[in-house]
Parts: sequence; C-alpha cells; structure tokens
Amino acid sequence: MKIISKSEVQKIINMTDTLEYVEKVFVEYAAGKTVMPPRPVINVEDHHGSLLIMPAYIPGSQALGVKVVSVYPDNRAKNIRTIFAMLVLNDASTGEPIAIMDAEVITAYRTGAISGVAAKYLALEDADTVAIWGAGVQGRQQLVAICAVRKIKKIFVFDVNPPGRDKFVEEMKALLGIEVVGCDNEDEAMSQSQIIITATTSATPIITGKKLQPGTFISAVGGSTSQKQEIPEHIVGSATIIVDGYGAALKDAGDLLIPISKGIITEKSVKGDLGEVVTGKVKRSNKEEIILFKTVGLALQDICVAPHIYKKALEMGLGTEVSMS
Ligand SMILES: NC(=O)c1ccc[n+]([C@@H]2O[C@H](COP(=O)([O-])OP(=O)(O)OC[C@H]3O[C@@H](n4cnc5c(N)ncnc54)[C@H](O)[C@@H]3O)[C@@H](O)[C@H]2O)c1
Repeated sequence: MKIISKSEVQKIINMTDTLEYVEKVFVEYAAGKTVMPPRPVINVEDHHGSLLIMPAYIPGSQALGVKVVSVYPDNRAKNIRTIFAMLVLNDASTGEPIAIMDAEVITAYRTGAISGVAAKYLALEDADTVAIWGAGVQGRQQLVAICAVRKIKKIFVFDVNPPGRDKFVEEMKALLGIEVVGCDNEDEAMSQSQIIITATTSATPIITGKKLQPGTFISAVGGSTSQKQEIPEHIVGSATIIVDGYGAALKDAGDLLIPISKGIITEKSVKGDLGEVVTGKVKRSNKEEIILFKTVGLALQDICVAPHIYKKALEMGLGTEVSMS
C-alpha cells in the first residue's frame, strides 16, 4: 500500500483534471449508477469541531474509497489548519486498501471544481467579475476553478481578517494574472459582480450588501453543516436553488434547513441537483434569474479524483510503500 503525502498530492493534482473528473462523476451520479451512503457527521461540540466520514463507489471508474475529514474553525486562532483530511483508496475488485493519501489538497481542488462545474452551466456566459467572501484554503481553488470556466477580469475579496485577505489578494493576483482587490464595501462589489462565492468559516450569514445584480450566480461553499448559515435568508428565499445532491444538502445544509424550519422555503424550493444540471435536465431559465448553488460536498467528488492521484503517483515514483502485514 502507498502512503501519498500532501506535498506529493500537490505535485500531481491540477484544476483542469479535477474539473473533468468532477463533471464526469455527476453524469454517472445522475444516471443513478454511483453508490454513496449519507455521510455521518460527528459534532464535537466541546471543541466546536466536526468529523465527517465520506464513502463512495463509482463503478464507471472502479473508484472505491472513503474520506475522513475534520473541520475545526477555531484552529485558525491557534495557527493550525481548519481542515484535516485523509482518504483511503481500495481496489474495487478485491477490497484491498491500495493507498492512503492526504486529502486536504484534494478537498480544496474538488470543492473548487464543483463550483467551477456549476458556474460553467449556471453563471451568465459573459460573467467577468467575482466577489468572494473567505480568503482561506477553499477560497484559492474556488477562484482558480471559476477563472477556468469564465473569462474573469476582476475579483473583489472580503474577509474578517484584513492581513490574511491582503496576503490572499497578492497571491491570487500573481497566480491568476488579473485584477484582484481587497474590499470593505459590499455594495460596490455586488453592483459589479455576476458571480459570488462564499467560502468562510462563519456560522451566521455573512453578506450584508443590499442588492444582487440580475443573473447573479452564487456558490455557497462554507457552512456545510446543519447549524451553519452563510447566505442571508432573503437571498435564499428569492433565488433559484440548486444543490450538489438532494439528500446531502437537505441533511447538512444549514443555509437551506434553517430557512425551511422557519417556513421561508420548503424542500420543494430546490429546483435541481448538479447531476440534473450537467445532463441538461435543469437549466438557467433567463438572464435575470439569481441562482444559488449550495454545496455541502459529496464523497463522489473526492473518490472520483483519487484513482488518478494513485496512478500518477505510481508513474512518477511518488508515495511511500508500506506493508500492512
Ligand atoms: N462545501 C464543501 O464541500 C466544503 C469543502 C471544504 C470546506 N468547506 C467549508 O468551507 C469553509 C472554508 O474552509 P477553508 O478550508 O477555506 O477555511 P479557512 O480557515 O482556510 O478559511 C476561512 C476564511 O473565512 C474567513 N472568515 C470567517 N468568517 C468570515 C466572515 N464572517 N466574513 C468573511 N470572511 C470570514 C476567515 O478569516 C478565513 O480567512 C468552511 O466552512 C468549511 O467547512 C466546504
């Protein structure tokens, strides 16, 4: 069995491949061919953290495995990363574990990729400006993915931590080669942006700007447990809602569950899932429609990428061979 470290995964993974794998797996998901039981979430309340166990089997690519991921927002204040994740990849024909790989980087890429795939189908074709809340680990790959599917010219960045935001702005400018600005004025950013990304660790709604532009596409990435909200309820109540997967979102998305519990929306307010979007069953209806894509993350997104990482590690001579016997 191979142990593949974070730095080794980083040498292998790229957004172009990840977008392709994630889009492809949602076609298989839409056909009902994938196996993905609901993920157990353990809330570790005394430490404000959670542990998620995410298994999946994807027959088309014979990908079988499980990701274990922890999310501890308070870690940031201790200078420890918020998310730790590892993935066990099994041989689908024998069940034998063939690799354990760090999945922190995989998580960031596949979470970026799902926003990228959703934006490819649901954002306005000519969208060229993005506003992002959350200058963290997810935020980076969110922007890389959006820039891969739309010709983005300008990005506004919001974060409660101005020094962290300014560092992020400099990094993203260098990485993307476009205009990236740190911003405090939400109304100014929202009046120019056709794409909004929220990728914060906040447990309560974050956007305070007054007016969304007609046609805005929002990808709500943070708040992926049932008690957390990132998106203000007036936006949830007025937007067309698309989710990554019905079962997962209606179990874990506080952004939907809390407004449902208050009668602001119902489960029926969800117009479609990403499988229906990539197979053309659900589409943007017009250029004015505001679309809220809520993702809590599906194991399929991780497991679809893992065999590629394993294969490339073998080809590139990466990873450490260990014996389990
Ligand atoms: N949907 C998914 O599949 C998925 C996958 C991974 C992570 N997540 C979630 O994404 C979120 C971000 O994860 P990360 O790894 O980037 O964390 P991170 O700690 O690296 O970054 C979070 C950023 O959000 C900022 N922030 C916190 N509250 C804010 C607020 N009110 N307004 C603006 N900025 C604020 C922090 O200062 C920080 O820069 C977490 O909630 C995590 O659970 C979701």
